Amino acid sequence: MDKKITIAIDGFSSTGKSTLAKQLANALGYVYVDTGAMYRAVTLFAMQNGYIAADFFDKETLIASLPFIHLQFKFNPDLGFAEMYLNETNVEKEIRTIAVSNFVSKVAEVSEVRAKLVEQQKQMGKDKGLVMDGRDIGTVVFPDAELKIFMTASAQTRAQRRYDELKEKGDDISFEEVLKNVEERDYIDTHRVDSPLVKADHAIEIDNSHLTREEQFDKVLALVNSIQ
Ligand code: DC
Repeated sequence: MDKKITIAIDGFSSTGKSTLAKQLANALGYVYVDTGAMYRAVTLFAMQNGYIAADFFDKETLIASLPFIHLQFKFNPDLGFAEMYLNETNVEKEIRTIAVSNFVSKVAEVSEVRAKLVEQQKQMGKDKGLVMDGRDIGTVVFPDAELKIFMTASAQTRAQRRYDELKEKGDDISFEEVLKNVEERDYIDTHRVDSPLVKADHAIEIDNSHLTREEQFDKVLALVNSIQ
């Protein structure tokens, strides 16, 4: 039970990766890293500086600015998880808006952005005892992870989950808009040239369309216990 392992969780957007990753990290006393938050923070930086907008993306200037983007996770004991800081500012709320969601896949396509973030992610995982979620964790960041999970659920189910979350936060948005965003991101995430979303070798696929959070957690915890 004591041997620390690396758990890589990949999958489509809104499949509940972060919920599962947080549950596992809490139960095992592991560090949880949400790599989507890192791509979102770089996207927010690009938006704040006018490098990306509807029908406009100044990729070259974003690439030239990468050395000036400092990303950090700081654990918030009240929330029980780490929040994202962009250049020393807490951006946890801003990075979850639909505006950021609309641009993030474009930013995540840029190889120079990916190289910078992957390097930082590898550093964070060098001592193991880590649960990391994203799109390329089992394929690129930790291809040797002891446990790889690939999560799926139908686009309708995922859009409904995201819609409920955004509504609860007070976002004024339609279900159709959320579904469109989910489908567009699925397309870009699976078709990009650099590190497209694919199921990693040896990854265990979990379709959670009809699983409760508890059922899903129990299933994965049993897998962890079988290999530790
Ligand atoms: O998990 P999320 O929805 O917060 O991720 C936001 C976007 O970032 C997603 O559309 C794809 C991209 N991403 C990525 O390309 N690679 C990762 N490891 C994590 C996220």
